[in-house]
Amino acid sequence: MIKIAPSILAADFSNLKSEIQKIEKSACMLHIDVMDGHFVPNISIGVPIINSIRPHSNLIFDTHLMISHPQDYIKVFAKAGCDLISFHVESDCDVAKTIDLIHAVGLKAALALKPATPAKEVFPYLPNLDMVLVMTVEPGFGGQAFMEDMLPKITEIREYANEIKPDLDIQVDGGINLDTAKKVLLAGANVLVAGSFVFQSKDPAREVQQLSNLY
Ligand code: DX5
Ligand code: ZN
Repeated sequence: MIKIAPSILAADFSNLKSEIQKIEKSACMLHIDVMDGHFVPNISIGVPIINSIRPHSNLIFDTHLMISHPQDYIKVFAKAGCDLISFHVESDCDVAKTIDLIHAVGLKAALALKPATPAKEVFPYLPNLDMVLVMTVEPGFGGQAFMEDMLPKITEIREYANEIKPDLDIQVDGGINLDTAKKVLLAGANVLVAGSFVFQSKDPAREVQQLSNLY
């Protein structure tokens, strides 16, 4: 099943509650980009914002940690009401322990890869993962152009997962619109993050619907 995760990084932060309501019925997840100004050259959303929006949405809170030390923050993000936590394989942590920590607090765990990181870096962890996040732009900013050369990486992970973890979700993040969505779905992804395409539209719900209808 194809799942759409609008990224609130592209939403109007002065009206987050009403922005989320626009996609509450059509989306499956809410993608929340957390940046620490160290792992990526930008600072974005943190725990207080997640606390504030949690009571206003029933969507799966899909939290993308672009931070250097994810292991130290799993409990606080769980307490804030996240349902799924993605952290980067390139971050400074014990990857296996961090996955276990996420599961121990009852959440789903995903491992994210920057564009330069080869697929095989996540293979040892696949049996314990719920999802892999393939970045199709350099993490840090919304509104960037989709990197076509990430398509073979998606297929490589899908093929490997089919052998050892067929129910693995593969999420793509960065530059997703109707054209690029078709390509990543064909390549083997099934969870689409879309920031600018959804929230910079006059009708965010329609864009989510159009993405969902692609399959
Ligand atoms: C970038 C973020 C993305 C971003 C995607 O570091 O991880 O989630 O919001 O934005 P678009 O869809 O505009 O590329
Ligand atoms: Zn993201």
